[in-house]
Amino acid sequence: MTSILLVALLLLIPILFLLKRTKQSKRVPPGSLGIPIIGQSLGYLRARRANIAEKWVEDRINKYGPISKLSLFGKPTVLIHGQAANKFIFANGGGNIVNMQIQSIKMILGDRNLQELRGKDHSRVRGALVSFLKPESLKQYVGKIDEEVRRHIQMHWEGKQQVKVLPLMKTLTFNIISSLLFGLESGNQRDQFMNPFQELMKGVVSVPINIPFTRYNRSLKASAKIQNMLKEIVHQKKVEQEKNGVNPRQDLISCMLSMVEDDKQVLTENEIIHNAMLVMVAGYDTSSVLITFIIRLLANEPAICAAVLQEQEEIAKGKLLGEPNMGRPFKDEVLLESSNGNS
Ligand code: HEM
Ligand SMILES: *[C@@H]1O[C@H](CO)[C@@H](O)[C@H](O)[C@H]1NC(C)=O
Repeated sequence: MTSILLVALLLLIPILFLLKRTKQSKRVPPGSLGIPIIGQSLGYLRARRANIAEKWVEDRINKYGPISKLSLFGKPTVLIHGQAANKFIFANGGGNIVNMQIQSIKMILGDRNLQELRGKDHSRVRGALVSFLKPESLKQYVGKIDEEVRRHIQMHWEGKQQVKVLPLMKTLTFNIISSLLFGLESGNQRDQFMNPFQELMKGVVSVPINIPFTRYNRSLKASAKIQNMLKEIVHQKKVEQEKNGVNPRQDLISCMLSMVEDDKQVLTENEIIHNAMLVMVAGYDTSSVLITFIIRLLANEPAICAAVLQEQEEIAKGKLLGEPNMGRPFKDEVLLESSNGNS
C-alpha cells in the first residue's frame, strides 16, 4: 500500500515549492508550521499509509482555504490548490519559483543527482541519462527483460494456485533494474543489493531526523552502503573496459562510463553513482505498481484479458522458439526498418 502512495508523492512534489521571499513576505498564508522539523509530516505520512492522503489535503483546504502554509519534511511549505494555482505554478510564478527536492531525497540520493542540478550541469547529466533511456536504446534491452520475465514466471508463478502480485512485481522490477542499470545478473552480488535498497526506499519520504533507529537514519546508512557497492562496480567496469573495450549498451553504468569528450570523462564518479541511484529509485515503485494495476485489470476483465492474450499469441506465432517477444514494433522502429530495407 505504501508503494502505491509513493506514486502519489511524485504528484505532490510540484506543490512543494518554496516561494521566494519578497519584500511583502510578511503577508503569509493561514495555517501553522507545527512542531519544528516535524511539522505536519507525520500526519501526512500516516494519511498516505492509510490511503486517505487526498482526504487529508481536502480537509486542509476546507479548513484554511485554497492557500495555506504548513511544514513538510523539515521545510516550510505552501500548499496551493485550484485552477489559478496550477496556472501560477506552470507559468513559473512570474520567475519567482524553482523546483526543489525535499531534503531527505537529496541526502539519500546524493547532491549530484539530476534533480539537484541546474543549468549546464543539468543538461550534461540529463543528456547522459537520455542516451541510455531514449526509445532507440530501450529496444536493446528487450532481450534482457524478456529473459528476466521468463525466469521470474518459472520461479514464482508456474504451478501456483494463488500469487501475491505486488511483492512479486517488486522482485521482478528490482531484478530488471539490477540487470539493466548495474549489469548485475542473478547471483550473490545482486542479492546483496536487495535489503539495503529496500531500507533506502523507506527513507525517501520521511521526516529528516538523523538520530539512531529513525527511517531516515537507516535509509542514509543503506544509501552509504549502496554507494560503496556501486563504487566497487564502477571500478570493476573501468578495469573491464580497459581490457575488453567499451560496450556502452551493456548497462547504465557502462554507458555513463563510456561517455568521453575531449579526452575527459563526461560524468564524474559521484555523478555516475548518484544518478544510477536516482534512476533505480525512479523506476522501482512506479513500474512495479503500474504492472500490478495492469495485472489486476486483466484479472478482473476477462474480455480485455482474452483480447490481450490473442494479440500476444499472434505476435508469438511470428517468432522462433525462445525468441524475445517484443510486442508490436515502436512506430520509429517501423520507419527505421523500412528505410534500411531489412525488415
Ligand atoms: C509508471 C512508471 C513511471 C511513472 C508514473 C513516472 C513518473 C515520473 C514523474 C511524475 C516524474 C517527474 C517528477 C518531478 O519532476 O519531480 C518523473 C521523473 C523521472 N523519472 Fe519517472 N516515472 C515512471 C517510470 C520511470 C522509469 C522506469 C525510469 C527510469 C528507468 C524513470 C526515471 C525518471 C527520471 C530520471 C526522472 C527525473 C527527470 C528529470 O528530473 O528531468 N521513471 N517520473
Ligand atoms: C545515525 O545517527 C547517529 C546518531 O546521531 C549518527 O552518528 C550517524 O552518523 C547516523 N547515520 C548516518 C548514516 O548518518
